[in-house]
Amino acid sequence: MEDVEGGHSPKIDPPCSPSACNPPEPSLSKNARKKLLKQQRYEAKKADKKLQAKEQKKKDIERKRKEWEEKLACVTEEERAKLIESRRNLRKERMGKRSEDREKKIVRLNTAKDCGQNIVIDLEFSHLMTPSEIHSLVQQIMYCYAVNGRCPSPCHLWLTGCNGEMGSQLQRLPGFDKWIIEKERRSYIDALQEQKENLVYLTADSETVLDDLDLKKIYIVGGLVDRNRWKGITLKKAQEQEIQTARLPIGSYLKMSSSQSFPGPYCEPSHRDSTQVLGNKRLEGFFLSGCSSKKKMWS
Ligand SMILES: C[S@@+](CC[C@H](N)C(=O)[O-])C[C@H]1O[C@@H](n2cnc3c(N)ncnc32)[C@H](O)[C@@H]1O
Repeated sequence: MEDVEGGHSPKIDPPCSPSACNPPEPSLSKNARKKLLKQQRYEAKKADKKLQAKEQKKKDIERKRKEWEEKLACVTEEERAKLIESRRNLRKERMGKRSEDREKKIVRLNTAKDCGQNIVIDLEFSHLMTPSEIHSLVQQIMYCYAVNGRCPSPCHLWLTGCNGEMGSQLQRLPGFDKWIIEKERRSYIDALQEQKENLVYLTADSETVLDDLDLKKIYIVGGLVDRNRWKGITLKKAQEQEIQTARLPIGSYLKMSSSQSFPGPYCEPSHRDSTQVLGNKRLEGFFLSGCSSKKKMWS
């Protein structure tokens, strides 16, 4: 997984290896089987890369430690004491800055709780995902939380339908208990029933284009990594529940080639352009990995 919070993002491992969890089912079509195998190869490669990066990190730490010791070995006693002292001060300074940043982040997130844009991640789709897709979703939620916390004007995040495998994977995230978000076992439709007229399900299949965010509205994002298997599922759900839907005009704003980097995923009150909410590379996967291909507008 990539660095999500200044190189110290918490990481969790998938519950089991993709090949062990998702053996290609004989009932799958030839195409689906091919896709699944491709996905499994990709996951295996990713795990391999992760391991290599971990080993490289260990080597780097060891090299730096040796360099430091060599440096100390060839200076006088007095210089040595000075070097140690200055390193200690640098560390203290860094730790102070980190805890200051943490406190500021807590203030920002608590402010968002009172008057920020509410965004719900609907987690009622676990039964439609493979273990590795659930794992991917959990990683993306973790990333969303980290990026949102760093924004000058963060959103207030809700996780609804936080049950079963999804709930237990989230619970295993380090520090999850302290996250400043709403965690709801209930569905958003029950938890927010008094606000039903303000609920807007974001779905690529909606006829309505959302150009500006409305602070009164509560936008719902489908917590679903489905690689295009469940086309239109969120639109159908919202229609059945008789709640509004809207589509973000992603393609009009973002060119989604691999080399492109997106703007930050926050929404400044002064610049409530909806694409800013999901403007980053990781969220690209979250929002688009399973959307109807006709709606995928990136080049
Ligand atoms: C990977 S997609 C899931 C696709 C799924 N087949 C569906 O019917 O929604 C994850 C979520 O990202 C959001 N999303 C993706 N593209 C969007 C768009 N253009 N406009 C609004 N929401 C979008 C939707 O909430 C969607 O449920």
